[in-house]
Amino acid sequence: MLQKLEEIRQDTLSRIEMAEEEAQLDEIYTLTLGKSGALTAILRGMASMSKQERAEFGKSANVVKQELETALSKKREALSFIMQERRFKTEAIDVTMPGKRKIPAGHLHPLTQVYRDIRNALVGMGFTTFDGPEIEHDVYNFTLLNLPLDHPARDMQDTFYINDEVVLRTHTSPCEARALINMKPPFRVAIPGRVFRVDEVDASHSPVFMQIEGLVVDKNITLGDLKGTVDAFIRAVFGSDVKTRMRPSYFPFTEPSAEVDMSCTICGGNGCRVCKGTGWIEIMGCGITNPHELENCGVDPNEWSAFAFGVGVDRVANLKYGISDIRLLYDNDARFLTQF
Ligand code: DAH
Repeated sequence: MLQKLEEIRQDTLSRIEMAEEEAQLDEIYTLTLGKSGALTAILRGMASMSKQERAEFGKSANVVKQELETALSKKREALSFIMQERRFKTEAIDVTMPGKRKIPAGHLHPLTQVYRDIRNALVGMGFTTFDGPEIEHDVYNFTLLNLPLDHPARDMQDTFYINDEVVLRTHTSPCEARALINMKPPFRVAIPGRVFRVDEVDASHSPVFMQIEGLVVDKNITLGDLKGTVDAFIRAVFGSDVKTRMRPSYFPFTEPSAEVDMSCTICGGNGCRVCKGTGWIEIMGCGITNPHELENCGVDPNEWSAFAFGVGVDRVANLKYGISDIRLLYDNDARFLTQF
């Protein structure tokens, strides 16, 4: 019996030693220590032994049983550690590896690009930016700009009224008044912002669009200063080949007033559908600031003079990129925007 016990011991220990998976250990346990295991069978056989024999053999058998149980649980621990290491290795992720799928990078909206081009050109000529409210007093939007209540030119701009005295600004010009009232001449300001008109949406109209206004206040301003500035600014935005010309026009806040045309960016001045065969495209309004406006805003027209211009940023974007429908600028369809 002792010899049998020793055989089971050695055989089991060597099989535990060789086991490579936890399932094998379960099997070894069943075959040896389980209900119908080899060692269990031997322990049962002790019933037929004499009392003394049983005491001695029982001791050895218990030692073996404990030894095997300890060996099994030690091996179990070792195996689970190895399995864990193996899993760590196969599941490991190299977080420093470059991604396979690139996240598409966004870019500036064409309107923002054009706005920045215009702003940079003006800042390069010594302008600082000036900001004002979109919801504006009628006084700033009209009255101070030489458009008193009964002035027929108020009809030139279809106005959204909030109440009798407050409007959504129809142009960035009210900020001319705000700058004249708040800043000490001489100064040059560029005023960007959204403006609003009662207009049906179509290819060339939107009830919301963007303007940039320029205002220069100094002594002895001439039309030549205005023309030089407008010319430099348009060439900075559209390229140095572009030519400009001024045509007489009318704005209540300037005297004289002019409309600026530039040579057609599509046909280069030869005449096409966009310039209606003329070779010229109207791009902005401008003029020598009306002395009434200076006076209304507390600036002495005998001491100071000024010129101003206002340009539609959407219009510049359309001409620069050859976009024929203003709505595309506001729909924010990625298929359109990614082309710029
Ligand atoms: N405010 C005018 C408009 O929205 C544009 C404009 C014309 C602005 C002449 C000016 C200017 O400053 O001098 O149509």
